[in-house]
Amino acid sequence: MKYFIANWKTNKTLQLSIEWMQTFLENYVPNENKKIIICPPFPFISKLNEMISQSAHVYIGSQDISVYEQGTYTGEVSALNLSGIIKYTIIGHSERSLHMHESTDISFQKSKLAHKYGFAQFYCIKNENDPYPPYVEFVCYEAIDAISTGDGKGNNKPLKIIIGLKRKLALQPNTKFIYGGSVNENNCKEYFNSPEIDGFLIGGASLNPQRFLAIINS
Ligand code: PGA
Repeated sequence: MKYFIANWKTNKTLQLSIEWMQTFLENYVPNENKKIIICPPFPFISKLNEMISQSAHVYIGSQDISVYEQGTYTGEVSALNLSGIIKYTIIGHSERSLHMHESTDISFQKSKLAHKYGFAQFYCIKNENDPYPPYVEFVCYEAIDAISTGDGKGNNKPLKIIIGLKRKLALQPNTKFIYGGSVNENNCKEYFNSPEIDGFLIGGASLNPQRFLAIINS
């Protein structure tokens, strides 16, 4: 099984997200060995969930959840709010610490809430020294210098380096290992054939449905 996670970050309007999904679904061929998880901005989640309701192996996830569960936290979107709507979430993306100054402690608290609400989580680490909660389903390795500036064409890490880091992590047998950082339609083949990598977190190259499909179909 390979996992393809689209991380749209803070891009698109509702209309553009609908057009993306229409193009995606027109060209998407379900494959039981591939799971697709699309993580749009929060406001588009429900509409996109409706659009994929008849499509096999496609899911909508969130890019983050609040560190709070419920209460007087204006503007926050919590695991409780998202329960019954999503089953997957990204936790601890490095852009949360870079721009929102979130600590590892905050990521761990969010992770606990995601776990409590039964979300499978893509828990991001930047290097082999980053801790991760032992129960997470997916550990996602994204070195900061590999993340693109938005076009998916940055300094992706060579497969050898990725596998070396994975070994150092000594993951539990059930924990899946995801790679992210400038994965695109040109470099994905090298990764795809490696049994060491269970999936990909794709930012810039997922913004265009044709590029995202090219990665899935590689
Ligand atoms: P990128 O982003 O594919 O544009 O490098 C990946 C990510 O940060 O999730």
